[in-house]
Order: sequence, then structure tokens, then C-alpha cells
Amino acid sequence: MRRRARRSALGRRPLIPPEQVEHDGVVLRRLSADDADEVSRAATESLEHLRPWMPWATPEGTSPAAQRERLLGPATMWSSGSGYEYGVFLPDGTLVGGCGLHRRIGPSALEIGYWVHVGHVRRGIATACAGALTAVGFGLRGIERMEIHCDEANVASASVPPKLGYRLTGRLEHEPEAPGEVGCRLIWVQYRREWEARAPRATTPSPVD
Ligand SMILES: CC(C)(COP(=O)(O)OP(=O)(O)OC[C@H]1O[C@@H](n2cnc3c(N)ncnc32)[C@H](O)[C@@H]1OP(=O)(O)O)[C@@H](O)C(=O)NCCC(=O)NCCS
Repeated sequence: MRRRARRSALGRRPLIPPEQVEHDGVVLRRLSADDADEVSRAATESLEHLRPWMPWATPEGTSPAAQRERLLGPATMWSSGSGYEYGVFLPDGTLVGGCGLHRRIGPSALEIGYWVHVGHVRRGIATACAGALTAVGFGLRGIERMEIHCDEANVASASVPPKLGYRLTGRLEHEPEAPGEVGCRLIWVQYRREWEARAPRATTPSPVD
């Protein structure tokens, strides 16, 4: 009986995440082409900070036109279900970064990515985003594993996953994609059972419809 109830609860989990989530002082909201200018502004102001780690962080890649195309085009992954990209906002509506969930590491897993505006780093924003997205990911049907990847040289990024209960499970050689990378990717993993054991109620963000 209990097993059937659990199975039907699992079956009720949504397949796609909420378009807006609030957690630990940040608001994650699905981006649209209307946000292109603001994303472009934040990324352009942060160019030197992002350039070592984000392959798209070039003057062309952060231009309003490139961002508009990205947010409009096939890379708008929400519709295809290949991934879910959010803008990161302060409660007053200021855009301070971006983050997302990507379906590129197997059928029952999602990878988290994030970046934060240079003027807002070291205030826990990336940790809040990754915590929110971990809960969002595990709230989806069929997701049993969450991962965060970063190059070994990216000390700031590598500081985030262990704070949230992720374990370093591997190091993969990779072709550097951005100028700061040394070619060794750290793989941080968390399974659902580990996350559930970490008092999920305290860390579950509120979806806002
Ligand atoms: C990596 C990044 C997202 C971290 O964002 P953030 O909001 O500053 O991170 P948080 O404030 O949540 O900090 C998490 C931890 O990282 C540490 N940290 C942040 N920046 C750091 C730095 N430059 N050097 C060393 N540690 C750093 C923080 O001190 C914090 O640990 P602590 O609270 O125990 O001190 C941000 O630096 C960034 O946008 N970098 C460029 C893009 C990028 O690298 N994205 C990830 C690609 S894998």
C-alpha cells in the first residue's frame, strides 16, 4: 500500500521545472528574448571575470544580438526539453547572473551551470542558485542524479558543490574550451537518496507560478 502511494507520488512529479523559483534571497526566472538586453549588459560588464571560464564570454557572444538569438533560437532549450535556463535576479529585480539545468549527462540526470555578475560575487549567490536547482532537479520525474562540472583551475566554481552535499567522484581530461581552463574537469555528483538525507524540507525552494 505504502509502496503504491509512493509510486503514484513519484508519477505526479512534473517533467519540466517551474518557470520561477525563489530561494535564499535569489529569484530564478525563465529567460525570454525580452531579457536579452539585460543579460547582455550584465555579461558585458562581467566580461573579464567570465572570459576565463565561459566559452561564450566574448564581446560578440555577449552582445545584445547574440543573446537575443540565443534566447530565441533552437538553443532555447525549454521547448525541446534539453535544458532549462534561468536568469538570476535579486528580489528588487536586478539581474545578477544566469544558471541552468542541462540534460546532457544521461537520461536520469541533470547538470547544473551558473555564472554571477562580477559586482555580486562572494555573497552566496551561486551557492543559492545551485541549491535551488538541485531541489528543482530532484523535483522532476525520473531524475536520480545531479552533477556540477567545472575545470580544476576554477577554484571559485569548485567551492560551490561541496557546500551543497555534492561529492567529487571523478576527474576527466578535456579539451580546454575557455582560456582559464587547464583541461581537467572535476565531476561533482549527488544522488537523490543523499539529497533526501540532507533535510530536504529546509532546502526546498518555493516555485512561483
Ligand atoms: C564561480 C562563481 C559562479 C561563484 O559565484 P559566487 O556567487 O561568488 O559564489 P558564492 O558566493 O556562492 O561562493 C561559493 C564559494 O566560493 C568561494 N569563492 C568565490 N569566489 C572565489 C574566488 N575568486 N576565489 C576563491 N574562492 C572563491 C566563496 O568564498 C565561497 O566559499 P565560502 O563562502 O566558504 O568562502 C562566480 O565566481 C563566477 O561567475 N565565475 C565565472 C563563471 C564561472 O566560472 N562559472 C562556472 C563555470 S563551471
